Amino acid sequence: MLVDGYGRKVNYLRVSVTERCNFRCQYCMPEKPFSWVPHEKILSFEELFLFIKVAIDKGITKIRLTGGEPLLRKDLDVFIKMIYDYKPEIDLALTTNGFLLAGIAQSLADAGLKRVNISLDSLKPEVAWKIAQRDVLGAVLEGIDAASKAGLFVKLNSVPLKGINDGELLELFEYAKNKNMPIRFIEYMENTHANKTIQGLNAKEIQEIIKTKYNFKEKGREGASPAQLFELDDGYVFGIIDPHKHDFCESCNRIRLSAEGMLIPCLYFDEALSIKDAVRKGDIAAAAEILGTVIANKPEKNRWSDEEGEKSNRAFYETGG
Ligand code: 5AD
Ligand code: SF4
Repeated sequence: MLVDGYGRKVNYLRVSVTERCNFRCQYCMPEKPFSWVPHEKILSFEELFLFIKVAIDKGITKIRLTGGEPLLRKDLDVFIKMIYDYKPEIDLALTTNGFLLAGIAQSLADAGLKRVNISLDSLKPEVAWKIAQRDVLGAVLEGIDAASKAGLFVKLNSVPLKGINDGELLELFEYAKNKNMPIRFIEYMENTHANKTIQGLNAKEIQEIIKTKYNFKEKGREGASPAQLFELDDGYVFGIIDPHKHDFCESCNRIRLSAEGMLIPCLYFDEALSIKDAVRKGDIAAAAEILGTVIANKPEKNRWSDEEGEKSNRAFYETGG
């Protein structure tokens, strides 16, 4: 079992398999970075898998593959199968923008993927285009349906932005509800890479909009999830992620691995250690030691709303949010 310096059990690993993305979301990567990390610096699936085996042996029970856009990486289904075959009970999930999902959803499910979170910020083609800066909506909607048809458990993620998609939160909500898919509204998290002009809605503003049409009661958090859950009279549950609060740090159970092999104890905390040399040498003992050190260094809370505290400039597309 992995336990950090504050007694929190760490059982959740998020693996960003690439920082590259085919979207240019205003809140994440409005412009292509000056250069991508060169391919030779990115860990191969075999190298990532070596670390993942160590992490599973030490007590990781949930793994989420993220990006950038993870489906840009060839043979992701093969990688999923490697993890699944090593330990089928692992709760294996993927976060994707959905654009390439329709063509591969069935193979991912067959390989052992269980769950997928898909970003859906608008149901209007021109608004989705404005946010992602390319024509994305049709393919994303096909991806959502294909994932569902393949038997994957689908959750939707939306980032409400003032004057952009805030007029259609109820439509997004109802789209999800009609498909019986949970939706999470995520407060926009300011970061140095995002478009400086955008503004997010806060959790209270999001609740007010849903309240204009639906009654719901607070259900609290589910385990270590950062989402605050709400239940409608008919039992449908939706969530709001409010990263500007610290309260979910108390039950944080996660660490992150970047495609370059940086093992990151907290999203808003600059310290991280590289596992690259260890896995490139096949040195399992060294990888296990780095994992232990990073867990021991996990900070008590994120540095997000900490006014004096140094904020992390690490891009979301490096860590998969
Ligand atoms: N603020 C809030 N959510 C973000 N995401 C990416 N960048 C941000 C940000 N700055 C979310 C997207 C996507 C997930 C990968 O992360 O909504 O669903
Ligand atoms: Fe790509 Fe996701 Fe970032 Fe949008 S939020 S640019 S889809 S990584």
